[in-house]
Amino acid sequence: MTEMRANTKKLFIKTYGCQMNVYDSDRMADALAPQGYEPTGDIAQADLVLLNTCHIREKASEKVFSELGRLKELQSERRALGGDMMIGVAGCVAQAEGEEIARRAPVVDMVFGPQAYHRLPSMLARAEAQRHMHPSLKQAVIDTDFPEEDKFDHLPAPRKEVTIKRGLTAFLTVQEGCDKFCSFCVVPYTRGAEVSRPVSQVIAEARGLVEAGVKEITLLGQNVNAYHGVDGAGRAVGLGELSYLLAEISGLERLRYTTSHPRDMDDALIAAHRDLDILMPYLHLPVQSGSDTILKAMNRRHTAAEYMKVIEAIKTARPDMALSGDFIVGFPGETDKDFEDTLKIIADVGYASAYSFKYSTRPGTPGANLTHQIAEEVKNERLWRLQDLVNSQTTAFHASCVGKTLPVLIERPGRMPGQVGGRSPYLQAVHLEGSTDLIGAIHQVEIIGTSTNSLVGRLRQAQVA
Ligand code: 5AD
Ligand code: SF4
Repeated sequence: MTEMRANTKKLFIKTYGCQMNVYDSDRMADALAPQGYEPTGDIAQADLVLLNTCHIREKASEKVFSELGRLKELQSERRALGGDMMIGVAGCVAQAEGEEIARRAPVVDMVFGPQAYHRLPSMLARAEAQRHMHPSLKQAVIDTDFPEEDKFDHLPAPRKEVTIKRGLTAFLTVQEGCDKFCSFCVVPYTRGAEVSRPVSQVIAEARGLVEAGVKEITLLGQNVNAYHGVDGAGRAVGLGELSYLLAEISGLERLRYTTSHPRDMDDALIAAHRDLDILMPYLHLPVQSGSDTILKAMNRRHTAAEYMKVIEAIKTARPDMALSGDFIVGFPGETDKDFEDTLKIIADVGYASAYSFKYSTRPGTPGANLTHQIAEEVKNERLWRLQDLVNSQTTAFHASCVGKTLPVLIERPGRMPGQVGGRSPYLQAVHLEGSTDLIGAIHQVEIIGTSTNSLVGRLRQAQVA
């Protein structure tokens, strides 16, 4: 039983975008718990609504403004009933367009970027004080500074009771921000410079998660394999070495990490894939394009051949490695030949899954100044062809699992009574007949078929570690 507070208030967080935002939303909830805020799934009951926004692709701010329009109505309804609703905008749109949001949407009480989450309680106090002011004097609290101090030193640790609710798998941010400046990408501007959390902090958080029942941790970072946290001796430790340290935590059964940059797949990390069973054989390694001309224009700082060399090294270290990637079609200047090179690299790698996007101009990025924009219908056509190829690879990958026995982390009851569901090492959803007693452990499952986006399995034997 969690302690009930007399003055419990309800918090609703709507999360857009990447997994780091999912992690951040949980940490914002943790930061607000001491203020008496408990999460609710019902937005109409919320005393405080936070929008945790994403700026990576187009129409991000329009989405935020239309959501704010809806919230204004909800707020009026609550006020009509004698209640109230405070509204905050967090995340990367807030970071990029803080002033603009406050100006265009007076309904907003707070606007703050990802580097300010540890200051949320004090922002809230200032925003609450503003509520009692005359509307003409009221101003939104804006915090889009990149602070000197490390927010992770100030955010409370994930609460155990919340972690239990979160289940068997958890995210853990180890690195944030990016110094790569790919010419299409807003991340270096919204998340700031690359910062790695110290090793001891990461290990302590991982131990806490495992004690709360978590079996699988996904390490997060915009450039997670550029991780270089310091250890107790002040020495920088890379992601490979960190993986060996995490593998020593008893009770932690699976480790994943995302998202990586090809240039940071160093020998130590590749060796960790060779040595550590705990590191899952599934790697998200975006290449974006298969054309050297476009890779150069994107400022990716590697060629297609260099990417292929990294893939070969990983596959040598871990022959069952499944790969996933991100692709952008229609980057300015992309010719038919450039696009064919992208299809070729996809064919050469053979992805288990991939995410693909039409290029969208992000204000403030170097890409925004490029001419030779690609027509929308060309982008559509290329995206369609690329997705067709990737879909056929995903289907082939699922089919190649049939007949194999895979360790599956059983996570939840299935869709039908008498069924349970879990994940394969390759992140595929697996459904099988079995009792809910199986939930919480890794079991050997023979794959007997596939259905759309998932595998069908049969339990082979009782629990195997
Ligand atoms: N346009 C289209 N796709 C983009 N991505 C990042 N920025 C843009 C953009 N301006 C994609 C990249 C990246 C993923 C998270 O989003 O593929 O890897
Ligand atoms: Fe963006 Fe490139 Fe950094 Fe990834 S590596 S976050 S695509 S700038």
